[in-house]
Amino acid sequence: TFNLHGRDFLEMDDYSTEEIQYLIDLAIELKRKQKNGEVYEPLKGKTVGLVFEKSSTRTRVSFEVGTYQLGGHALFLSKNDIQLGRGETIADTAGVMSRYLDGIMIRTFGHDKVVDLAKYASIPVINGLSDLAHPCQVLADYQTIYEHKGKLQGIKVAYVGDGNNMAHSLMIGGAKLGVHVSVSSPEGYEPDAAVVQQAQEIAKATGAIIEVVRDPKAAVQDADVIYSDVWASMGFEEEQKQRELAFEDYQVNEQLASYAKDDYVFMHCLPAHRGEEVSEGVIDGKHSIIFDQAENRLHAQKALMAALMG
Ligand code: CP
Ligand code: NVA
Repeated sequence: TFNLHGRDFLEMDDYSTEEIQYLIDLAIELKRKQKNGEVYEPLKGKTVGLVFEKSSTRTRVSFEVGTYQLGGHALFLSKNDIQLGRGETIADTAGVMSRYLDGIMIRTFGHDKVVDLAKYASIPVINGLSDLAHPCQVLADYQTIYEHKGKLQGIKVAYVGDGNNMAHSLMIGGAKLGVHVSVSSPEGYEPDAAVVQQAQEIAKATGAIIEVVRDPKAAVQDADVIYSDVWASMGFEEEQKQRELAFEDYQVNEQLASYAKDDYVFMHCLPAHRGEEVSEGVIDGKHSIIFDQAENRLHAQKALMAALMG
């Protein structure tokens, strides 16, 4: 068993392959407990702060519900309501929150803010999405793939679209877990080269394959999983029109999906724009597992909080 108590969770590379597998196994165990009505309250008497500088449906609800189910209490702290939004420093916010809380989740823009919060806080900090990474989503996603496919090693995940936070965390997490992650993005929207290099470095030790290709068909060829995300992430809304043009050949539809394995699953972190990055037929069709994914945010984050703060 692994002792992760007191650790932060800023990106998938904070943890070893074995530690990530342990968190996935724990998530599956907590899912079973919850479905059987078994009470498990390692956060009894504990409080978690949820700092949001961007909108959220899944992350907010799953963290609030998850904390409650673990016997703890969650505080929703919107940037509009706390002094951080009026210019109080990250360092002071971290110092103060560390005296009240047992853990902090933050969703923000620049990843440096997450890193700074973790640096100045004496309690665990969880990245609930930054412009660079979305590791909570990816922990739940690899749990979901594991449940559907029975393994992770050698599974091919084709990510089609913007080389954004989702692409980054899928690559880093996939590299850790021995997955074949093929990312296909249009010119100018590739994933961060440093992240790709880091993932490829990790992959050397695990047998994972991390590749970036131009042609979405090449990425989707023989894939077990097709993954899609919005073309304009939060903070990039004003680029929507120009991105619609740049990404027009990158829609996941029945035609593109025909290159994947017959039993492929379609995944999307949500929220989605039907008719843009994915056709209605694919996201609402029989291959789609988007709600299993969304559900697993709850279980994966409960595992994370139990391990870090329990
Ligand atoms: N997938 C995800 O993080 O969704 P929210 O933005 O609704 O939290
Ligand atoms: N890439 C998206 C993910 C939303 C969960 C964004 O950052 O807006």
